[in-house]
Order: sequence, then structure tokens, then C-alpha cells
Amino acid sequence: MTGFIELSSSISTAGATLRCIEPECLAEFPIDDKVYGCRRCGGLLDVSYKFSARHSAAEQKSEFLARKSSQNALDLSGVWRFRELLPFVDDLSKVVTLAEGNTPIYRAPRSAEYAGVDQLRFKHQGLNPTGSFKDNGMTTGVTQAAALGATAVACASTGNTSASMAAYAARAGMRAFVFIPAGEVAYGKLSQSLEYGAKVVEIEGNFDDAMRLVRELADEIDLYLLNSINPFRLEGQKAIVIEMMEQCEWQAPDWIVLPGGNLGNTSAFGKGLHEMAELKLIDRIPRLAVIQAEGAAPFYELVASSKKSTLHAVARPSTLATAIRIGNPISWKKALRALEWTNGIVERVTEEEIADAKAVIGSDGIGCEPASATTLAGIKRLVSSGAIDSSADIVAVLTGNLLKDPTYTIDYHTGSLEYDTDGVRREIKGRFENRSVRVAADKEKIKLMIAS
Ligand code: F0G
Repeated sequence: MTGFIELSSSISTAGATLRCIEPECLAEFPIDDKVYGCRRCGGLLDVSYKFSARHSAAEQKSEFLARKSSQNALDLSGVWRFRELLPFVDDLSKVVTLAEGNTPIYRAPRSAEYAGVDQLRFKHQGLNPTGSFKDNGMTTGVTQAAALGATAVACASTGNTSASMAAYAARAGMRAFVFIPAGEVAYGKLSQSLEYGAKVVEIEGNFDDAMRLVRELADEIDLYLLNSINPFRLEGQKAIVIEMMEQCEWQAPDWIVLPGGNLGNTSAFGKGLHEMAELKLIDRIPRLAVIQAEGAAPFYELVASSKKSTLHAVARPSTLATAIRIGNPISWKKALRALEWTNGIVERVTEEEIADAKAVIGSDGIGCEPASATTLAGIKRLVSSGAIDSSADIVAVLTGNLLKDPTYTIDYHTGSLEYDTDGVRREIKGRFENRSVRVAADKEKIKLMIAS
């Protein structure tokens, strides 16, 4: 990063530690310890702070706002603009940023009508530099990698994490190794990782196999792991809800709806909302509604069960929304905590529901990749079951860009979207198909076509 002048003197890393989330453990480790899980009990780790209130909440909000007119590289980032809420970096001149975040919130009247609600807004994380919310987390994850002196980073991915990590690693001059399930990553995403110069390793297995392998490798060789088990990733993803609250003028909506895969976002949103409430930046906590695809819904099953102490992994997760084709989500305990903090709920939706919801989001002129469309499909279900009131104030998060997975969209609109579970093929009959038409290069014929 160049040309940076520190504007605020209110940040201090002094109180930042890594802390085990298990209530009976709570072991702490220094933030410069390269550790992904608790050394004492194996639990997940938080970046934990003792926030010192140098500013009142109102002053802090004004400072965030004032930075919007600054050309400082940190202020141009929708993550680092909120740096007082993620104070783990000692030397802010070393931040690796692509001006991530800064994503808009759109009103979506057609989607609202489809779901049966009075109004609905989408925060479009697909408008990030690499086209997904992962950039929010990679700016913090790669910054931490740089602070630790890492020269090589790695992740398992269904495509977006790898695209984002590849870009940020390239910016930081690091080597990037991405482990993806062979043949299961959408082309838009795969092409990004290749273009940004990552070493792409296609594993003959699914995402969960790739995740297990890369975790083991990171313990054995010099690779810094950048999946969402890395708590520094989640610090950046917290900024999605911080920015959202600012856009809502710090009036929390009733619901925040998001897709659930590896459950990093759910975990990050929960932590961010909890901290904002503690710091009195918001005076109530919105409820989270996490939506999974029916064929990859271990978290839904966990929450629906009476015993919430063990997540039963789905051995062969299946959904055409490849981003969330995950059977063994790594952050489920943090996600469960997020539901407790936010009085949250989980829903699951079918392939047909995802496909149609995606086309409806498109009809609002917005567009997204399949995993993101679980949100609208989920809201529709939750409204019909009465869990969400039709007059509720809802912000749903679209996690990835439409152009990430063009094959899915073309297949939907040409009536050739097919879903394969355990060797059984099923056609997805789209209700909002929009086929292209072929006409002779003849003006009169074209006029006839337009009039028909
Ligand atoms: N939406 C999109 C577009 C994603 O890429 C992902 C996750 C999710 C939703 C789920 O988010 O894991 O935080 O619950 N993609 C990861 C990847 C797994 O490798 O790109 P989550």
C-alpha cells in the first residue's frame, strides 16, 4: 500500500489475542502465533479484543462516515474504513487491499413480491473486486499472512475463496496454492485463479476432502492457511454487516438472510453484530436466517435436531449451487453461537427453488450466482411458514456475481438445467425460462418477431 497516512490514533493492537471459543477452555494465544485451532482443546479460535472506548459511538460513526471523502487507501476499503472494529494490525502501512467492500444495497420490488414481503433489499457482495464476499475476508487474511512473513498461502475452495486468495496473494507477491474439487468449480471462478497466477490443484474428491488435506498440509509444510477457519478472514467478513448497518443508518433491520456453506459468513456476521451491540453502535441485533441447499444441509439438520453437540456431515453433498456444495462445514460451532447471539434460524431450499429465485433476482436487474439465490428462495419459504412476517424489514446478502457461473444461467434459460443425485438425473423445469430466438438476417422477419 502506498501513500498512507494514519488518520486515527484510536487503534491499538495491545488488547488483541487469539482466543478459543469453547467456554470451558478459552485458552489465549498471541496474535502473531501461526495457529488455526486451539492448541489445548482443538476448538475454533476468535480474534478477540478488549475494545477501549476512546470515542463515543456517535463520534465513531461520524469518523467512519468522514473517511468516505478521503483518498487514503485504507479509507477507500469498505473493510479498513472500519478499522477500529478490527484492530489486530500493528503496521497499517502493510495492509493488502484492493478497495474491497463498498458494496451497494438495492431495493428489489419484484423479488419482494415473489417472496410475499412488502419490501426487500439486497446487499450485493458480488460487486467486490473479484466478484464475491471473499474479498472482504482476504484483505484481512492476506494482511495477516504478510505480517507473519508468509511467502505461500493455501486454501481449499469451491471457487470463490480461491479466486479471491489468488488475487490478494498476487498483490502481496506471495505464492498461492488452491485445492479444488476436480470438475466441480464454475468456470468464471476457475479462470480467475489461473489468471492471477495461483497453482491450481484439482483434487479427485469433493470440497470436504480438499479441506481436510489442505488443513493437514498447512500443519506440515510452510503454507499459511486462508480458509475461514482462519479467524483473521472472519474479521474482514465482519465488515459486511458493519457496512450494512452504516448503510441502514445504524437502524438494524429485522432480518439478515444469507446462504450457508462452510459457515464462515454466518460466524463472522454473528461476531460483528455481537460486537457492534456491545459497543452500542446498534441498539438491537437483527436476526440471522441462514439458508442451505437441500442436498448439502448439515447445519439445517443440526439445528433441527434436539441434540446440537455433534454435526453429522453429509457424505456426498449435492447441489447445482457449487459454491455451497459442502457436507462438513468447518465453522459450525461458531455458526451455532451466531444463531444464539442473534436468535437466528436455518432453512433449506430445493434446487428448483434456487433456480427460479435466481431468475427472479435477475428480473430486478440485479443478478447473482446460484448460491446467493438461496436467500430469496429461503425468504419465500420462511414467509409462507410464518417464520418471517410479510411486513418485516429484510436485508439479504447476495454473495457472488452472476458472471461467476454462466453455464448454470444459460442451462436454466435453455431448459437444460439438470440435477444429478446418486446417479439419478432430474431436469429442473424453470418457471422463468428466457430463451434466445434465432431469426434470419432480415428486417421484416425481425419486425414480425418483435410484434409477436
Ligand atoms: N455464497 C458463495 C458465492 C460462496 O462462494 C460461498 C462459499 C458461500 C455462499 C457460503 O459461504 O462458506 O461462509 O457459508 N464459498 C467457499 C469457497 C466455500 O470456497 O469459495 P460460507
